[in-house]
Amino acid sequence: MKKLKKLIIKKKNILSAIKIYKTPLWIYDYKTIKKQILKLKKFDIIRFAQKSCSNIHILKIMKKLGAKIDAVSLGEIERALKAGFKGNCNDIVYTSDIIDTQTLKKVVLHKIPINIGSIDMIKKIGKISPNHKVWLRINPKFGDGHNKKTNTGGKNSKHGVWNTQLAISLIQKYNLNLIGLHMHIGSGADYNHLKKVCYAMIKSALLINKKISFISAGGGLPIPYKTNDKKINIKSYHKIWKKSIKNISETLKCKIKLEIEPGRFLVAQSGILVSKIESIKIVKNQTFILVNVGFNDLIRPALYGSYHYISVISKDNRKLNTLKKIKVVIGGPLCESGDIFTQKENSEIYTIKIPKVKLGDYIIFHDTGAYGASMSSNYNSRPLIPEILIKKNVLNQIRRRQTINEMLSLEI
Ligand code: LLP
Repeated sequence: MKKLKKLIIKKKNILSAIKIYKTPLWIYDYKTIKKQILKLKKFDIIRFAQKSCSNIHILKIMKKLGAKIDAVSLGEIERALKAGFKGNCNDIVYTSDIIDTQTLKKVVLHKIPINIGSIDMIKKIGKISPNHKVWLRINPKFGDGHNKKTNTGGKNSKHGVWNTQLAISLIQKYNLNLIGLHMHIGSGADYNHLKKVCYAMIKSALLINKKISFISAGGGLPIPYKTNDKKINIKSYHKIWKKSIKNISETLKCKIKLEIEPGRFLVAQSGILVSKIESIKIVKNQTFILVNVGFNDLIRPALYGSYHYISVISKDNRKLNTLKKIKVVIGGPLCESGDIFTQKENSEIYTIKIPKVKLGDYIIFHDTGAYGASMSSNYNSRPLIPEILIKKNVLNQIRRRQTINEMLSLEI
């Protein structure tokens, strides 16, 4: 295991949360969210991609700290409204490649701008809501991501509009009000690819040649999951975007605001997943540590082979760091072989070194604030686990544990 990463959340607070709410649980740190938002303050608008962490209380924090919101479903629109974001203004943008009848009704009722991802969406909204504010999400014909599954550009991506000219002519035909252009090439993209989006945006905006009010750089900003991962240089990223916007703005003779739409960057590092060791198993000469969370809670390692730094806290205040290290595989309780947290993208398992642990000690998965709780499921009929927010050393339960009865109630 690499150099011990400093716990973002104090050990004392983690132990209090365990005492009150029991394991397993998610914990978020308010200070870290605020710190990440401040890093992006030079962008005119920060639009939080709530799919990364959609708890209403997290959305309220985003609102309080001045961010706007991205919603990708009717459920996410409802969450945004519940958190206090308003329709009929720039607070919420609905981004998708489809729009169903219920969602269509909602965006029309609340006059929520739509970020168009398909020609069919233009026709649907155009027929019932002329003059509706729309953005165009352009597929820049290339993409990137930390995994093939999170790449959202190029010819193998279902996202965004490929034929921009056709989209623009239909937007005109239906008298829709084009207010912005948007590109998002993928999640966890590398810096060189992200930079290329600026040039693709200049090219598209000049080709479209319409006065607009907003340009969105999309999300995709990476975070350092591994202790030796490089941090993205926000200053220089902002600079190249600002330059591009100036160029577009001068040529099209209109004032344009620069948006950024991060999910992971704002919340990943604020969150940890706390689990308890339920079994220490020797299989031939390999040690499996089995904890009480599975890929129903944190799916990223099983789905993408994603790495999450893992640390240990003892149940009884034993000093662990001085102990001899053991090589282990970390797995969950699910009745499925792939329920392993230490696995690579090709599903091969690997070992990590941790201090010698005992049953009942706690395993902490770091940087799980993004795409952690929001991607959880009830697989193996395991209820959703609580979410706790720590602000100024005070623990706030922002989602309680689901009961088994609640889980079963839809079927009874
Ligand atoms: N904007 C759009 C249109 C998106 O589709 C996404 C992510 C974002 C913004 C935010 O991307 P971020 O800044 O968080 O990278 N479940 C995967 C990530 C999938 C992201 C899907 N779209 C993961 O756990 O890595």
